[in-house]
Amino acid sequence: MRKDKITDIILKTARAMQHSGKAEDGLASTDRVKWPITCIVGPGLEGAIACETKVGFVNGGEGSLIYQGYDIVDLCAFSSFEEVSYLLLHGQLPTRSQFKRFNNKLVECRFLPNTLRMMMSMRVEELHPMAALRFGENLMRQRRTWRDSESARPSPEDAIAADEDSIAMETRPRGEEHAIYEFKTHKQARPEDARKISDDATSMEACAYLISGMATLTAAIARIRANRMPIEPDPSLSHAANFLYMMTGKRPSPEEERIMDVALILHADHGMNASTFSSMVVASTLSDIYFSIGAGLAALNGPLHGGANEQVVHVLREIGGEENVVGWYERARKKNAKIPGFGHRVYKTYDPRAVILKPLLDFVAGNNEEVLPLIKTARMLEKLVVEDLGKEKKIFPNVDFYSGLIYSCLGIPEEMFTPIFAVSRVAGWTARVHEYLKNNRIFRPRAMYIGEFNKKYIPVRGRDSRKRRHRRSAVKSR
Ligand SMILES: CC(C)(COP(=O)(O)OP(=O)(O)OC[C@H]1O[C@@H](n2cnc3c(N)ncnc32)[C@H](O)[C@@H]1OP(=O)(O)O)[C@@H](O)C(=O)NCCC(=O)NCCS
Repeated sequence: MRKDKITDIILKTARAMQHSGKAEDGLASTDRVKWPITCIVGPGLEGAIACETKVGFVNGGEGSLIYQGYDIVDLCAFSSFEEVSYLLLHGQLPTRSQFKRFNNKLVECRFLPNTLRMMMSMRVEELHPMAALRFGENLMRQRRTWRDSESARPSPEDAIAADEDSIAMETRPRGEEHAIYEFKTHKQARPEDARKISDDATSMEACAYLISGMATLTAAIARIRANRMPIEPDPSLSHAANFLYMMTGKRPSPEEERIMDVALILHADHGMNASTFSSMVVASTLSDIYFSIGAGLAALNGPLHGGANEQVVHVLREIGGEENVVGWYERARKKNAKIPGFGHRVYKTYDPRAVILKPLLDFVAGNNEEVLPLIKTARMLEKLVVEDLGKEKKIFPNVDFYSGLIYSCLGIPEEMFTPIFAVSRVAGWTARVHEYLKNNRIFRPRAMYIGEFNKKYIPVRGRDSRKRRHRRSAVKSR
């Protein structure tokens, strides 16, 4: 079966990578941190150690990535996004029955009829897809957290009695007036374990709901932007296949499904990156999981974080063909421009995710006439960058150099690349939030104050005349 061909490609590539997937110093496991610790911290918290984790480890020197102790290569070759999500959240691979239960939950959580209905009352197509995704994610919160039902919903008596003039009224056929907006009188009783099942960020139910929901929302946004109706999830399909189906309207081939699955596994977690950290910071205030994941989405939206794969495809188009690469590259180097899809804060060698995706791109591209010229351009660009900057500055292709081209081969529009990142990374965000909250301490770093002290407060009148005096004395002294 051609699906197995992809496993073969991954394993062959892994043999060529020859990495161990162990810690930098070769240890099989690492010890717990004895707080407080001493570390050298650079701007942007570079080098700072904020917490302990078992979720994942990025070995920048060796170029390897592990999730809960398992090498990403093995997970891509043998696992699925659903199983990897379970692993990240629970710290161990599921048994057959555990997996069945988790998978059933994910399938059940794919359906978001209320959220989509609320979303479609807005002009979603006019929002940036990441803004739409964040909006939709916030709507998923509705009726999922008991905080809203307890504090935000007005009691019907209070609302109606407040001031009848301020309430929009309409006349019934028989003439009597009534409020247009009637407040629901049914107040749900708070179940005993309400916190556990709904807004508690440590709830697995909420994590599953977000992992599944992110895919449904992203697919719906792509459809609405294409002037089409969202497609109902298909419970018989895997997470990856269902996502592609809901997005493109076409059931993917087994190879397309498998490649999407590998891409989702590869992006699921990656250390304390900006979006993961943002989610954790918000969760550490004991805000709920929906706000926490919303913070991750907001951070991922930035071009220094989530948007590079889209940029890669734009640059390859701008170059306009293999024959133009040398000239384009020379001009870019003269301008000292950063070339999208190259370099990484942690990896000082090939990004292992890029190593895995590279041969899969060749496989999925086949005879795709639209993408093949871009791939040729990409190969040429990669050769030039690695020859020029690889040895000197340790600049190599990163995961974004190939992922965008792969998504293009799968028929996904470029503006959806960053939301797809979120469809996968939500597994890492929820896992790390969940892990951190077990020993929560609110994040509170410090800033170094470099300003003045003892300034005298001058009321606004005095400030203008003081400025004038300053100007006059400056003119005199010239
Ligand atoms: C990922 C990235 C932000 C990491 O940044 P960083 O660790 O802060 O690295 P720096 O920006 O300090 O770069 C270190 C040196 O490598 C160079 N460099 C880094 N990335 C480069 C790139 N993509 N193209 C050309 N030169 C690059 C810098 O110019 C700098 O050179 P200098 O020492 O002569 O000034 C950066 O490599 C980048 O912007 N890459 C392009 C965007 C991208 O692909 N992002 C996705 C990351 S997964």
